[in-house]
Amino acid sequence: MNRPADIRYLFEPRSVAVLGASADRSKIGYRLVENIVRGGYAGKLYPVNPKGGELLGQKVWRSLDEVADEIDMAVIAVPAKGTYQAVEQCARHGVKHVPIITSGFSEMGNAEEEHRIVRLAREHGMRVLGPNIFGVFSAKSSLNATFGPPGIQHGSVAIVTQSGALGIAMIGKTAVENIGLSAIVSVGNKADIDESDLLTYLMADEQTRIVLMYIEGVQHGERLVATLKQAAIKKPVVVVKSGRSKRGAIAAASHTGSLAGSDEVFDAIMRQCGVMRGESLEEAFNWCKFLAAAPTPRGENTVIVTNGGGIGVLATDASEKYGVKLYDDARLLKETFGSVTPDFGSTKNPVDLTGQAGPQQYDAALAAALASEHIDATLALYCETAIFDAQNLAGMIRSNADAYRKGGKPIVFSTLGGEMTESCIGVLRKESVPVFGEVYQAVSCLGALYRQRRHIAEYSDAVDEADIDIGLVEKAVASARAAGRTFMLPRESRELMRAIGVAMPQNAVAHNLDEAVKAAETIGYPVVMKIVSPEIIHKSDAGGVALDLENKEEVIDAYQAINVNARRYKPDARIEGVEVSQMLVRTTETIVGARQDKAFGPTVMFGLGGIYVEVMKDVAFRAAPLSRKEAQLMVKEIRSYPLLLGVRGEKRKDIEAVVDTILKLATLVRRCRAVSDIELNPLVVYDHGQGVKALDVRVLLSSSLSSND
Ligand code: COA
Repeated sequence: MNRPADIRYLFEPRSVAVLGASADRSKIGYRLVENIVRGGYAGKLYPVNPKGGELLGQKVWRSLDEVADEIDMAVIAVPAKGTYQAVEQCARHGVKHVPIITSGFSEMGNAEEEHRIVRLAREHGMRVLGPNIFGVFSAKSSLNATFGPPGIQHGSVAIVTQSGALGIAMIGKTAVENIGLSAIVSVGNKADIDESDLLTYLMADEQTRIVLMYIEGVQHGERLVATLKQAAIKKPVVVVKSGRSKRGAIAAASHTGSLAGSDEVFDAIMRQCGVMRGESLEEAFNWCKFLAAAPTPRGENTVIVTNGGGIGVLATDASEKYGVKLYDDARLLKETFGSVTPDFGSTKNPVDLTGQAGPQQYDAALAAALASEHIDATLALYCETAIFDAQNLAGMIRSNADAYRKGGKPIVFSTLGGEMTESCIGVLRKESVPVFGEVYQAVSCLGALYRQRRHIAEYSDAVDEADIDIGLVEKAVASARAAGRTFMLPRESRELMRAIGVAMPQNAVAHNLDEAVKAAETIGYPVVMKIVSPEIIHKSDAGGVALDLENKEEVIDAYQAINVNARRYKPDARIEGVEVSQMLVRTTETIVGARQDKAFGPTVMFGLGGIYVEVMKDVAFRAAPLSRKEAQLMVKEIRSYPLLLGVRGEKRKDIEAVVDTILKLATLVRRCRAVSDIELNPLVVYDHGQGVKALDVRVLLSSSLSSND
């Protein structure tokens, strides 16, 4: 097994071969050679085709075996049945990277052949991009090794896309929008190279200012999370993921053969990593174009300058939606804008210049905002009026955009009107002036800029592992495994909770009536009793639970009733006894869970119990490992968070103890992969300083045998 080739050679190859180069202009093999030649690639090019000859002024080699030179990259565009042999040729030659254009592998159920190719490549230290891709473009090498459009504009946005066709369409869109690319890479089936490999290069590449990714499914999620966390503090990373809806997820799974996973989990983890997820491709492109050029704001004081009250209100709503903070120091706003605002206008934010404002008033107001040391960014809105003609409008926007760029302060324009205004927007967008027809789009861009700024300011790579007794954890797992179970019995779950330091109510298991009474008296009334049987998982359904037992008589009655109910529910069930436990005062109930997520590996979840999780789906997720701060943010993120702060005279709950519990579960599922699913439901949270207690714990184990696989 050779060392894997450096990813740099995928973007900066000194020599490129094309296997399947064809003189037939209708074939992909022709298009690839044409794009490489016309794109101005300065390295050495080796078209390969058994027929030999010449193509676009290049000698065509009959086989790679004829080439004496070292080859950094060999693009494969031969049919699926000949791909393995072509890769063998590359392996013999010591090629570093093989982007495989060819379709017909795992996306069509032919995973075996794909694995065979990757195995062969790995044995030779060769990396495979794809298969099922449109290729690679790298501005640094002037290399257009794609069968997409020629003449890709060079710039600072890098695109990584799982869908090839969409990638080709994105190249078209970037041309229309005048967005320059530093790279575009199609990852297709991700049999070997994936987003993490590419990000490793792109985050260090000086030409790339922003990365846009289109993702359908995540593999090796733990590695992706670690890479994204590093990447997003270096440059903005924008992601668009399909498969939000259930049907969409199924479509995505059959497109590239990858597992789409839960969209809520994906969404939460992207936020955790500081990655910005666009609702649509359009939003993502808007962000990329804006963020690639916008200066970094010094603070978050934003001012809206408008000539229409209505559009100002819309912008105010949008600001709340996208987390844009509007500056509200009335005195300073008056001081800044008083002289440029008519008496019947408003200097409050939004600053309303009114419909009578012409270019001079706009210029003066925007210049005042630019000059103010209290204002960090401006949102300039314009509704078409007779006072401004479109010519003036374009001039005013252009000159102010220029002044703000030079002054290092962000500005975004939104203009609304008829045909003249629309064509003005078209012209200005071509010039990369940040102007939008829709006010929400303009505000969304500013919101993205602030999010990035905030992420960098707040980022910490700290990891807060909890102190758990891993030996005891493994003992509990081994006990369940020895009995051939993939779930834990209450006593094993209790052991597990002891191992990680989560308190449970005091309890004892009684094997007869006397023991039950004795246990109740030792624990103290009121108590709860529950049937203990490996065959009865849903105890309430079986009539196997009795709550709030206040005295000896009630314990005796309940003991008998529970046993009778359980026998009736499942006559052949093994009954191991009745658990007697302390009846807790149930105040605020939460759910804390953790699992081995199919896409992201160890993850944690948190929500308030009952309807909040079940009906309102008010839950937060994170990938493990995580810092205390991340766990705190996770708790704060749920909509029902105010209930933990104490409502209607109640005291603040012990939020720190909840955070501790999240960290304990995160550590557990990271250090013990055999625990596939654990849920503390409910986890009762007492007043501040009083801690938490898990009333019920459900633990599932992975079906594989080792305790730490
Ligand atoms: N080395 C070099 N050249 C070889 C070869 C080898 N081992 N095996 C075959 N060739 C040549 C062929 O002779 C042919 O050349 P010719 O035109 O001179 O006859 C050329 O390679 C192409 O082979 P051909 O059989 O004509 O295939 P094709 O061009 O019709 O299709 C693919 C090849 C890869 C394009 C096709 O199989 C495919 O997968 N298409 C889908 C691609 C796609 O959509 N990818 C995802 C994008 S998002």
